[in-house]
Amino acid sequence: MSDPIKRVKGFADMFEPESTAFTFLENTARRIFGLYGYTELRTPVLERTELFARGIGDETDVVQKEMYTFPDRGGRSLTMRPEATAGVMRAFIEAGAAASQSVSKFFTYGPMFRYEQPQKGRLRQFHQLNCECLGPVEPGADAEIITMLMHFLSEIGLEDLCVEINSLGDKNCRPLYRQQLLDWAAGLPEEELCPDCRRRMHTNPLRLLDCKVPACQALTKDAPVMIDHVCPDCRAHFDEVCALLDKNGVPWKLNPRMVRGLDYYMRTTFEVVSNKIGSQGAVTGGGRYDGLIHDLGGPDVPGIGFASGMERLAMLLPETILKRPDFYIAVVEDAAMDCAFELAQKLRLAGLRGEMSFSAKKMKQQMKTASKLNARKCLILGGLEVENRTVQIKDMDSGEQTEAALSDIARFFE
Ligand code: HAM
Repeated sequence: MSDPIKRVKGFADMFEPESTAFTFLENTARRIFGLYGYTELRTPVLERTELFARGIGDETDVVQKEMYTFPDRGGRSLTMRPEATAGVMRAFIEAGAAASQSVSKFFTYGPMFRYEQPQKGRLRQFHQLNCECLGPVEPGADAEIITMLMHFLSEIGLEDLCVEINSLGDKNCRPLYRQQLLDWAAGLPEEELCPDCRRRMHTNPLRLLDCKVPACQALTKDAPVMIDHVCPDCRAHFDEVCALLDKNGVPWKLNPRMVRGLDYYMRTTFEVVSNKIGSQGAVTGGGRYDGLIHDLGGPDVPGIGFASGMERLAMLLPETILKRPDFYIAVVEDAAMDCAFELAQKLRLAGLRGEMSFSAKKMKQQMKTASKLNARKCLILGGLEVENRTVQIKDMDSGEQTEAALSDIARFFE
């Protein structure tokens, strides 16, 4: 026998219950985001490499080290999307959508690809739920999208999460702050920084602030932060976003060291982080990116958006969302097989979910199967039950067993 072929490192197969969790996330996202006017957009998984180099930024980790890039048979450099935003912007520009609508709201979801070191909550093929609101420049749009995100998270059962927000300034105040940060960083003992920070110091100094290496964090703990150096317009924008969140009861906290890993952000940025899923705790990241559409060759349309990692959300979902089967039919004698088949179908036609055993087996084995399936009730059928037109109903949670007439079984599932 030849060796079985294994899956690619960092790429996962998704069985139950994760596949059910994904369906639940997609459906809830579509429903909640729809309430706010988002419509679904599906963009290709492959794009021209240039789109990400220009959109995300040449100096970002994503573009420098993490993209799946290869030439196609015609010699064009293509990249499997590492995120959805750049592709949504390309589609928006290509469709000329700005001409017909002053506000466009897109929801997109699907697989993204980043060549990162796989670990818990970090894959090379992962999935995002992604929303982009294009058109409005007002702080109300920022507050609305953050409120919508928290509405969605609460709808999927994640009530205890708080959004962290920050402002990254704009093209007026950020260059001045960047210079201040560079001047401050010039005094750092470069040899004590991690290799990434040594590079970032010169190419992308803001990212010094969100390095996860403890030694780097200690060295940069007194670094100046953007929020203390934003211009009056950016400050007013930020304050208005915070005030609107307060008015709507959305829990938020300032994280002045949040800089985000993609270069297109300006002004409001936000993340939702959970401490329940290990070191890869960011479940959502997003922010405003006025200027991105223009940089990609489109009209000067501002925008704001976010993406949530579906694998990470799935890890946090309460078990109750995974619908349990209503029944399992245990057939303990061959004589009951036809009756069991008929009963299973009758229950399914009545909207109940469940399975049956296809051969008569010992009771102990059948119970094991019923509890493995996590069925609510086990319906036990033997020759005697068939003769009497009855069934034994075992409640799998309480262990209680009752006899019922076959014709009367539906009421046990109410
Ligand atoms: P991001 O912060 O790079 O932002 O990713 C968003 C979310 O995707 C993260 O918070 C995380 O939950 C998930 N994620 C990222 N990388 C991985 C991975 N390797 N494995 C598992 N999950 C991962 C963006 O992608 C932006 N495009 C978000 C955005 C939309 N900003 C504006 N619009």
